[in-house]
Amino acid sequence: MKFTLVFSFTLFFLTACDSNKLATKSIENAPNTQRVPTNQILNDLSEKAIADLALIEIDSTEIPRTIENGKLKGTKSKSWTSGFYPGLLWQLYGYTRNEKLKEAAVTWSNFIEKEKWDDGTHDLGFKIYCPFGNAYKITNEDRYKQIYTTAGKTLCTRYNTNVKAIRSWDHHEHLWKFPVIIDNMMNLELVFETAISTDDSTYYKIADHHATTTLKNHFRDDYSSYHVVDYDTETGAIVNRHTHQGKEHESAWSRGQAWGLYGFTVAYRYTKNELYLDQAKRIAEYIYTHPNLPEDLIPYWDYDVTDVSEPRDVSAAAVAASGLLELQHYVPQESSKYIKWAEGTLKSIASEKYKLETAPFFIKHSTGSVPGEFEIDSPIIYAEYYYTEALIRLNEYYKS
Ligand code: GLY
Repeated sequence: MKFTLVFSFTLFFLTACDSNKLATKSIENAPNTQRVPTNQILNDLSEKAIADLALIEIDSTEIPRTIENGKLKGTKSKSWTSGFYPGLLWQLYGYTRNEKLKEAAVTWSNFIEKEKWDDGTHDLGFKIYCPFGNAYKITNEDRYKQIYTTAGKTLCTRYNTNVKAIRSWDHHEHLWKFPVIIDNMMNLELVFETAISTDDSTYYKIADHHATTTLKNHFRDDYSSYHVVDYDTETGAIVNRHTHQGKEHESAWSRGQAWGLYGFTVAYRYTKNELYLDQAKRIAEYIYTHPNLPEDLIPYWDYDVTDVSEPRDVSAAAVAASGLLELQHYVPQESSKYIKWAEGTLKSIASEKYKLETAPFFIKHSTGSVPGEFEIDSPIIYAEYYYTEALIRLNEYYKS
Protein backbone atom coordinates (compact mmCIF):
# COMPACT_ATOMS: atom_id res chain seq x y z
CA MET A 1 0.00 0.00 0.00
CA LYS A 2 1.10 3.55 -0.71
CA PHE A 3 1.37 4.54 2.93
CA THR A 4 3.60 1.58 3.77
CA LEU A 5 5.96 2.58 0.96
CA VAL A 6 6.48 6.04 2.36
CA PHE A 7 6.76 4.65 5.90
CA SER A 8 10.38 3.63 5.47
CA PHE A 9 11.29 7.14 4.38
CA THR A 10 9.37 8.60 7.31
CA LEU A 11 11.16 6.31 9.71
CA PHE A 12 14.48 7.35 8.21
CA PHE A 13 13.60 11.02 8.61
CA LEU A 14 12.38 10.66 12.17
CA THR A 15 15.31 8.48 13.19
CA ALA A 16 17.66 11.10 11.82
CA CYS A 17 15.83 13.69 13.91
CA ASP A 18 16.17 11.63 17.06
CA SER A 19 19.92 11.14 17.20
CA ASN A 20 20.39 14.37 19.14
CA LYS A 21 22.80 12.96 21.63
CA LEU A 22 25.52 12.34 19.04
CA ALA A 23 28.61 14.51 19.26
CA THR A 24 28.46 17.62 17.09
CA LYS A 25 30.91 19.85 15.29
CA SER A 26 31.79 23.07 17.09
CA ILE A 27 29.47 25.72 15.71
CA GLU A 28 31.68 28.49 17.06
CA ASN A 29 34.45 27.38 14.68
CA ALA A 30 32.17 27.17 11.69
CA PRO A 31 32.82 29.71 8.94
CA ASN A 32 29.15 30.50 8.26
CA THR A 33 28.34 33.53 10.40
CA GLN A 34 24.62 32.93 9.86
CA ARG A 35 24.81 29.72 11.88
CA VAL A 36 22.75 29.49 15.04
CA PRO A 37 24.53 28.05 18.12
CA THR A 38 21.92 25.33 18.38
CA ASN A 39 23.78 23.11 20.84
CA GLN A 40 24.48 25.98 23.16
CA ILE A 41 20.86 27.18 23.07
CA LEU A 42 19.46 23.67 23.53
CA ASN A 43 21.81 23.01 26.44
CA ASP A 44 20.78 26.30 28.07
CA LEU A 45 17.09 25.60 27.53
CA SER A 46 17.46 22.10 28.93
CA GLU A 47 19.24 23.36 32.05
CA LYS A 48 16.52 25.95 32.54
CA ALA A 49 13.77 23.36 32.01
CA ILE A 50 15.33 21.11 34.67
CA ALA A 51 15.68 23.98 37.15
CA ASP A 52 12.10 25.10 36.40
CA LEU A 53 10.70 21.69 37.35
CA ALA A 54 11.17 22.59 41.01
CA LEU A 55 9.25 25.85 40.51
CA ILE A 56 6.13 24.39 38.94
CA GLU A 57 3.51 22.69 41.05
CA ILE A 58 2.45 19.37 39.58
CA ASP A 59 -1.28 19.68 39.05
CA SER A 60 -3.31 17.84 36.41
CA THR A 61 -5.61 20.86 36.02
CA GLU A 62 -2.83 23.42 35.66
CA ILE A 63 -0.76 22.28 32.70
CA PRO A 64 1.49 25.25 31.81
CA ARG A 65 0.05 27.44 29.05
CA THR A 66 0.83 31.15 29.51
CA ILE A 67 1.55 33.89 32.03
CA GLU A 68 -1.25 36.15 33.14
CA ASN A 69 -0.79 39.07 35.54
CA GLY A 70 2.76 37.89 36.18
CA LYS A 71 1.65 34.40 37.20
CA LEU A 72 1.79 31.03 35.50
CA LYS A 73 -1.61 30.17 34.04
CA GLY A 74 -2.26 26.50 33.49
CA THR A 75 -4.94 24.60 31.67
CA LYS A 76 -6.87 21.35 31.90
CA SER A 77 -6.06 18.39 29.69
CA LYS A 78 -9.10 19.19 27.53
CA SER A 79 -7.53 22.41 26.22
CA TRP A 80 -5.93 22.30 22.77
CA THR A 81 -2.61 23.41 24.33
CA SER A 82 -2.34 20.68 26.99
CA GLY A 83 0.13 18.51 25.06
CA PHE A 84 2.77 21.17 24.46
CA TYR A 85 4.45 21.30 27.87
CA PRO A 86 4.83 17.52 28.14
CA GLY A 87 5.81 17.45 24.45
CA LEU A 88 8.48 20.06 25.15
CA LEU A 89 9.82 18.00 28.06
CA TRP A 90 9.97 14.93 25.82
CA GLN A 91 11.86 16.87 23.17
CA LEU A 92 14.40 18.13 25.69
CA TYR A 93 14.70 14.63 27.16
CA GLY A 94 15.37 13.31 23.64
CA TYR A 95 18.14 15.86 23.29
CA THR A 96 19.76 15.46 26.74
CA ARG A 97 18.64 12.01 27.98
CA ASN A 98 18.35 13.62 31.39
CA GLU A 99 16.18 11.38 33.60
CA LYS A 100 14.59 14.28 35.49
CA LEU A 101 13.17 15.56 32.23
CA LYS A 102 11.85 12.11 31.37
CA GLU A 103 10.21 11.66 34.75
CA ALA A 104 8.47 15.03 34.39
CA ALA A 105 7.49 14.30 30.79
CA VAL A 106 5.87 11.02 31.86
CA THR A 107 4.03 12.68 34.77
CA TRP A 108 2.58 15.52 32.71
CA SER A 109 1.78 13.26 29.73
CA ASN A 110 -0.18 10.88 31.97
CA PHE A 111 -2.60 13.71 32.80
CA ILE A 112 -3.50 13.99 29.13
CA GLU A 113 -3.84 10.37 28.09
CA LYS A 114 -7.60 10.28 28.73
CA GLU A 115 -8.12 12.84 25.95
CA LYS A 116 -7.52 10.05 23.42
CA TRP A 117 -11.23 9.21 23.78
CA ASP A 118 -12.54 12.74 23.23
CA ASP A 119 -14.44 12.78 19.93
CA GLY A 120 -15.64 16.36 20.46
CA THR A 121 -12.45 18.00 19.21
CA HIS A 122 -10.13 18.05 16.22
CA ASP A 123 -7.13 19.00 18.37
CA LEU A 124 -6.05 15.46 19.18
CA GLY A 125 -2.89 15.85 17.11
CA PHE A 126 -1.75 18.72 19.30
CA LYS A 127 -2.94 17.18 22.55
CA ILE A 128 -1.92 13.58 22.04
CA TYR A 129 0.65 13.37 19.26
CA CYS A 130 2.92 16.14 20.62
CA PRO A 131 3.55 14.27 23.89
CA PHE A 132 2.98 10.63 22.94
CA GLY A 133 4.35 10.80 19.39
CA ASN A 134 7.60 12.21 20.78
CA ALA A 135 7.53 9.69 23.65
CA TYR A 136 7.27 6.83 21.16
CA LYS A 137 9.97 8.14 18.83
CA ILE A 138 12.36 8.62 21.74
CA THR A 139 11.67 5.50 23.85
CA ASN A 140 10.23 3.09 21.27
CA GLU A 141 7.77 1.91 23.96
CA ASP A 142 4.72 0.37 22.35
CA ARG A 143 2.23 1.74 24.89
CA TYR A 144 2.83 5.25 23.59
CA LYS A 145 2.01 4.12 20.07
CA GLN A 146 -1.19 2.50 21.35
CA ILE A 147 -2.23 5.77 22.99
CA TYR A 148 -1.80 7.89 19.89
CA THR A 149 -3.33 5.21 17.68
CA THR A 150 -6.49 5.26 19.80
CA ALA A 151 -6.52 9.06 19.49
CA GLY A 152 -6.09 8.83 15.72
CA LYS A 153 -9.08 6.49 15.46
CA THR A 154 -11.14 8.82 17.66
CA LEU A 155 -10.23 11.81 15.50
CA CYS A 156 -11.35 10.01 12.34
CA THR A 157 -14.90 9.69 13.70
CA ARG A 158 -15.13 13.39 12.80
CA TYR A 159 -14.57 12.71 9.10
CA ASN A 160 -17.47 13.43 6.75
CA THR A 161 -17.50 11.51 3.48
CA ASN A 162 -19.47 14.22 1.62
CA VAL A 163 -17.16 17.03 2.66
CA LYS A 164 -14.09 14.77 2.52
CA ALA A 165 -12.65 16.48 5.58
CA ILE A 166 -12.39 16.13 9.35
CA ARG A 167 -14.63 18.53 11.23
CA SER A 168 -12.77 21.09 13.35
CA TRP A 169 -14.95 22.81 15.93
CA ASP A 170 -18.29 21.93 17.48
CA HIS A 171 -18.68 25.40 18.97
CA HIS A 172 -20.20 28.50 17.27
CA GLU A 173 -22.99 26.40 15.75
CA HIS A 174 -24.90 29.58 14.94
CA LEU A 175 -22.05 30.55 12.57
CA TRP A 176 -20.82 27.27 11.11
CA LYS A 177 -22.30 23.80 10.64
CA PHE A 178 -19.15 21.96 9.57
CA PRO A 179 -16.16 24.27 10.08
CA VAL A 180 -12.75 23.16 8.89
CA ILE A 181 -9.86 25.36 9.99
CA ILE A 182 -6.40 25.55 8.47
CA ASP A 183 -4.98 24.51 11.88
CA ASN A 184 -6.50 21.08 11.29
CA MET A 185 -3.70 20.30 8.82
CA MET A 186 -1.54 19.88 11.94
CA ASN A 187 -3.60 16.90 13.11
CA LEU A 188 -2.96 14.86 9.96
CA GLU A 189 0.40 13.57 11.20
CA LEU A 190 -1.53 11.69 13.90
CA VAL A 191 -3.89 10.24 11.29
CA PHE A 192 -1.10 9.18 8.91
CA GLU A 193 0.71 7.55 11.84
CA THR A 194 -2.52 5.75 12.77
CA ALA A 195 -2.64 4.33 9.23
CA ILE A 196 0.88 3.01 9.72
CA SER A 197 0.39 1.57 13.20
CA THR A 198 -2.89 -0.15 12.26
CA ASP A 199 -1.82 -1.03 8.72
CA ASP A 200 -5.26 0.22 7.69
CA SER A 201 -5.37 2.44 4.61
CA THR A 202 -8.75 3.89 5.68
CA TYR A 203 -6.86 6.31 7.91
CA TYR A 204 -4.39 7.17 5.19
CA LYS A 205 -7.26 8.01 2.83
CA ILE A 206 -8.96 10.20 5.43
CA ALA A 207 -5.78 12.24 6.00
CA ASP A 208 -5.07 12.44 2.28
CA HIS A 209 -8.63 13.52 1.40
CA HIS A 210 -8.60 16.12 4.15
CA ALA A 211 -5.38 17.61 2.78
CA THR A 212 -6.76 17.65 -0.78
CA THR A 213 -10.01 19.30 0.31
CA THR A 214 -8.05 21.92 2.25
CA LEU A 215 -5.75 22.58 -0.67
CA LYS A 216 -8.72 23.06 -2.97
CA ASN A 217 -10.83 25.30 -0.75
CA HIS A 218 -8.73 27.13 1.82
CA PHE A 219 -6.38 29.14 -0.37
CA ARG A 220 -6.54 32.40 -2.27
CA ASP A 221 -4.73 33.05 -5.54
CA ASP A 222 -1.73 34.48 -3.67
CA TYR A 223 -1.47 31.24 -1.60
CA SER A 224 -2.57 32.91 1.61
CA SER A 225 -5.08 30.89 3.56
CA TYR A 226 -8.52 31.51 4.96
CA HIS A 227 -8.87 30.45 8.57
CA VAL A 228 -12.30 28.78 8.58
CA VAL A 229 -14.16 27.14 5.69
CA ASP A 230 -17.70 26.03 6.48
CA TYR A 231 -19.30 23.17 4.52
CA ASP A 232 -22.72 21.78 3.78
CA THR A 233 -22.57 18.24 5.18
CA GLU A 234 -25.01 16.84 2.59
CA THR A 235 -23.54 18.28 -0.59
CA GLY A 236 -19.99 19.08 0.52
CA ALA A 237 -20.43 22.61 -0.91
CA ILE A 238 -18.69 25.58 0.69
CA VAL A 239 -21.10 27.68 2.76
CA ASN A 240 -18.70 30.47 3.69
CA ARG A 241 -15.05 31.37 4.23
CA HIS A 242 -14.40 33.20 7.48
CA THR A 243 -11.81 34.05 10.03
CA HIS A 244 -11.98 33.52 13.76
CA GLN A 245 -8.56 34.65 14.95
CA GLY A 246 -7.50 36.87 12.06
CA LYS A 247 -8.11 40.57 11.42
CA GLU A 248 -10.94 40.00 8.95
CA HIS A 249 -12.31 37.29 6.69
CA GLU A 250 -10.08 38.32 3.78
CA SER A 251 -6.89 38.80 5.81
CA ALA A 252 -4.09 36.30 6.41
CA TRP A 253 -3.89 35.32 10.09
CA SER A 254 -0.21 34.68 10.71
CA ARG A 255 -0.33 31.45 12.68
CA GLY A 256 -2.78 30.03 10.16
CA GLN A 257 -0.24 30.55 7.37
CA ALA A 258 2.37 28.75 9.48
CA TRP A 259 0.01 25.83 10.20
CA GLY A 260 -0.51 25.51 6.44
CA LEU A 261 3.21 25.50 5.62
CA TYR A 262 3.97 22.92 8.29
CA GLY A 263 0.86 20.85 7.56
CA PHE A 264 1.36 20.51 3.80
CA THR A 265 5.02 19.64 4.36
CA VAL A 266 3.94 16.80 6.65
CA ALA A 267 1.23 15.70 4.20
CA TYR A 268 3.95 15.47 1.53
CA ARG A 269 6.17 13.46 3.90
CA TYR A 270 3.58 10.67 3.98
CA THR A 271 2.07 10.82 0.50
CA LYS A 272 4.77 12.18 -1.78
CA ASN A 273 1.96 14.07 -3.54
CA GLU A 274 3.73 16.83 -5.50
CA LEU A 275 0.69 19.11 -5.15
CA TYR A 276 1.20 19.19 -1.39
CA LEU A 277 4.89 19.93 -1.83
CA ASP A 278 4.13 22.74 -4.25
CA GLN A 279 1.59 24.17 -1.81
CA ALA A 280 4.10 24.13 1.05
CA LYS A 281 6.68 25.90 -1.16
CA ARG A 282 4.17 28.55 -2.22
CA ILE A 283 3.11 29.19 1.38
CA ALA A 284 6.77 29.53 2.40
CA GLU A 285 7.28 32.13 -0.34
CA TYR A 286 4.12 33.95 0.75
CA ILE A 287 5.32 34.17 4.35
CA TYR A 288 8.98 35.01 3.85
CA THR A 289 8.60 37.47 0.98
CA HIS A 290 5.62 39.27 2.47
CA PRO A 291 6.11 43.07 2.45
CA ASN A 292 4.68 43.31 5.98
CA LEU A 293 7.07 40.76 7.45
CA PRO A 294 9.46 42.64 9.74
CA GLU A 295 13.20 42.36 9.15
CA ASP A 296 13.65 40.03 12.12
CA LEU A 297 11.23 37.57 10.42
CA ILE A 298 8.81 37.58 13.38
CA PRO A 299 5.41 38.45 11.87
CA TYR A 300 2.70 40.63 13.25
CA TRP A 301 -0.30 38.58 14.36
CA ASP A 302 -1.89 39.01 10.92
CA TYR A 303 -0.08 39.71 7.63
CA ASP A 304 -2.63 42.37 6.78
CA VAL A 305 -1.88 44.64 9.73
CA THR A 306 0.40 47.52 8.83
CA ASP A 307 0.82 49.45 12.08
CA VAL A 308 4.19 48.74 13.70
CA SER A 309 2.60 48.97 17.15
CA GLU A 310 0.51 45.83 16.44
CA PRO A 311 1.51 42.75 18.46
CA ARG A 312 3.84 40.19 16.96
CA ASP A 313 3.28 36.45 17.03
CA VAL A 314 6.49 34.55 17.75
CA SER A 315 4.57 31.28 17.81
CA ALA A 316 3.76 31.72 14.10
CA ALA A 317 7.44 32.33 13.39
CA ALA A 318 8.49 29.22 15.35
CA VAL A 319 5.94 26.95 13.60
CA ALA A 320 6.95 28.25 10.16
CA ALA A 321 10.68 27.84 10.88
CA SER A 322 10.19 24.27 12.04
CA GLY A 323 8.11 23.52 8.94
CA LEU A 324 10.79 25.00 6.68
CA LEU A 325 13.43 22.82 8.29
CA GLU A 326 11.52 19.74 7.21
CA LEU A 327 10.59 21.21 3.82
CA GLN A 328 14.24 21.87 2.96
CA HIS A 329 14.83 18.09 2.91
CA TYR A 330 12.35 17.73 0.04
CA VAL A 331 13.48 20.68 -2.08
CA PRO A 332 17.28 20.50 -2.41
CA GLN A 333 17.36 23.38 -4.89
CA GLU A 334 15.70 25.71 -2.33
CA SER A 335 17.36 24.25 0.75
CA SER A 336 19.91 27.00 1.37
CA LYS A 337 17.22 29.68 1.10
CA TYR A 338 14.91 27.84 3.50
CA ILE A 339 17.75 27.22 5.95
CA LYS A 340 18.64 30.91 5.85
CA TRP A 341 15.05 31.93 6.58
CA ALA A 342 14.85 29.43 9.45
CA GLU A 343 18.21 30.52 10.86
CA GLY A 344 17.21 34.18 10.73
CA THR A 345 13.97 33.40 12.55
CA LEU A 346 15.61 31.30 15.25
CA LYS A 347 18.33 33.89 15.80
CA SER A 348 15.68 36.52 16.39
CA ILE A 349 13.76 34.32 18.82
CA ALA A 350 17.00 33.69 20.74
CA SER A 351 17.71 37.43 20.99
CA GLU A 352 17.13 39.57 24.08
CA LYS A 353 13.98 41.09 22.58
CA TYR A 354 12.10 37.79 22.77
CA LYS A 355 13.88 36.14 25.70
CA LEU A 356 12.02 35.38 28.92
CA GLU A 357 13.09 33.72 32.18
CA THR A 358 9.76 33.02 33.93
CA ALA A 359 9.31 29.27 34.55
CA PRO A 360 8.72 27.27 32.41
CA PHE A 361 8.69 29.77 29.54
CA PHE A 362 11.58 31.20 27.58
CA ILE A 363 9.91 33.26 24.83
CA LYS A 364 7.68 36.32 24.96
CA HIS A 365 5.63 38.17 22.31
CA SER A 366 3.28 35.47 21.03
CA THR A 367 -0.37 36.19 20.31
CA GLY A 368 -3.25 33.81 20.99
CA SER A 369 -6.24 35.73 19.66
CA VAL A 370 -6.63 39.45 19.08
CA PRO A 371 -10.36 39.23 18.19
CA GLY A 372 -10.87 36.92 21.20
CA GLU A 373 -8.92 39.38 23.37
CA PHE A 374 -6.75 36.79 25.06
CA GLU A 375 -3.03 36.01 25.25
CA ILE A 376 -2.07 39.08 23.25
CA ASP A 377 1.68 39.72 23.21
CA SER A 378 2.22 36.97 25.77
CA PRO A 379 4.34 33.93 26.37
CA ILE A 380 2.39 30.90 25.08
CA ILE A 381 3.70 27.38 25.50
CA TYR A 382 3.32 26.30 21.87
CA ALA A 383 5.95 28.87 20.85
CA GLU A 384 8.40 27.10 23.16
CA TYR A 385 7.41 23.72 21.71
CA TYR A 386 7.89 24.60 18.03
CA TYR A 387 10.98 26.74 18.65
CA THR A 388 12.60 23.78 20.41
CA GLU A 389 11.56 21.43 17.61
CA ALA A 390 13.06 23.83 15.07
CA LEU A 391 16.33 24.10 17.02
CA ILE A 392 16.59 20.31 17.17
CA ARG A 393 15.92 20.07 13.43
CA LEU A 394 18.52 22.73 12.65
CA ASN A 395 21.01 21.01 14.93
CA GLU A 396 20.46 17.79 12.97
CA TYR A 397 20.98 19.67 9.72
CA TYR A 398 24.30 21.07 10.97
CA LYS A 399 25.45 17.57 11.90
CA SER A 400 24.51 16.04 8.56
N1 GLY B 1 -5.16 26.09 16.94
C1 GLY B 1 -5.49 27.26 17.62
C2 GLY B 1 -4.55 28.37 17.41
O1 GLY B 1 -3.65 28.30 16.61
O2 GLY B 1 -4.70 29.36 18.08
